[in-house]
Amino acid sequence: MTTAIRIDGKAKAAELSKEITARSEALLRDHGIRPGLAVVIVGEDPASQVYVRNKQRTAEACGFHSVRHSLAEDVPQAEVLALIDELNRDDAIHGILVQLPLPDHLDEQTVTQSILPVKDVDGFHYVNIGKLTAGHVDDAFVPCTPAGIMLLIEDQVGADLSGLNAVVIGRSNIVGKPMASLLLAANATVTISHSRTRDLAGVVRGADIVVAAVGRANMVRGDWIKPGAVVIDVGINRIEAEVDGETKTRLTGDVAFDEAIEVAAAVTPVPGGVGPMTITMLMSNTLRSARLAAGEGG
Ligand code: GUN
Repeated sequence: MTTAIRIDGKAKAAELSKEITARSEALLRDHGIRPGLAVVIVGEDPASQVYVRNKQRTAEACGFHSVRHSLAEDVPQAEVLALIDELNRDDAIHGILVQLPLPDHLDEQTVTQSILPVKDVDGFHYVNIGKLTAGHVDDAFVPCTPAGIMLLIEDQVGADLSGLNAVVIGRSNIVGKPMASLLLAANATVTISHSRTRDLAGVVRGADIVVAAVGRANMVRGDWIKPGAVVIDVGINRIEAEVDGETKTRLTGDVAFDEAIEVAAAVTPVPGGVGPMTITMLMSNTLRSARLAAGEGG
C-alpha cells in the first residue's frame, strides 16, 4: 500500500482562484479597475480552441474583463501585429496572450515580442525571460506552467530547495528553461535533461524533484524514481485505451503514474495536476499587471 500523496492541482487552483477573485473585486472597489485579459487565437486548432475557452471561462469566473480575438488561419502577420499594437495601447487590457502554436506563415518570435513586457502575462517576452534568468523572479512575469508547478512543489517541500537535486526533463522555452530558472532561484541544484541526454533514467534516479515535460506518454518509469521524490508531470498525451472491449482515447502524462506513486513521496496526476494550475497562474499574472497599472504592488 502506498502512502504517497496524489497532488490535487485542481483543488489548489480552485483555492487560489478564490483569492484572485477577492483581490480583483478589491481592485475594482478601491481603484475602479477591473483586470482585463485579451486572448488572441489564430485558426481552428481544436486543442487550442479548448484551452482558450477554458482561459476565458476562468477569467470571467474571477470577475475579469475578458475579450477574445479569433483570427482566420491565413491572417497576414501585419494584421496580427496591428491588433497587438491596439491591445498594447488599450487601458482596459492588462494581459495579452497569443495562443500558440501559430500557423507556419506567422513568425512566433516577432508576434510574442511585440506584446509590451508589462502586459506579457505569458512571460514570453525577452525582458521577462531576462528578469527571470537573472533571478529577479518577483519582478518578472513568469510563464504560467512553471509558476504553478513551483507552488505545488512549495506545498510539498517548502520554498527553500537548498540541498535538493531537481531534474527537469525537457528544454522548451515555455516549460523546461523557465522551470530550471525558478528551481535555481529557489536554491535547488538543477539539471536540465532532454532527448539527447545519456542515461536519462540514471539522471532522474538522483533527483529529489522531477519535472517531466517531454510529451511522451508514460516515459518516466517507477524504477527511475528516487524513493521519497516529488514528481511533477507536465505531459498531456492522448493515448488509445481499451475500455470494456472498446478502443477509446484518454489523457495520460509523461510519468507512469501507478508505478511512480509506489515509490515517490508525491506525484501530480494527469489530468488534475499541473493543468488547472497553469490557467490559474495566468489569472494571477493578469491581476498582478492590473494592480501594477493601478499603482499597487503586484
Ligand atoms: N500553447 C500551449 N501552452 C501555451 C501557453 O502557456 N501560452 C500560450 N500563449 N500558448 C500556449
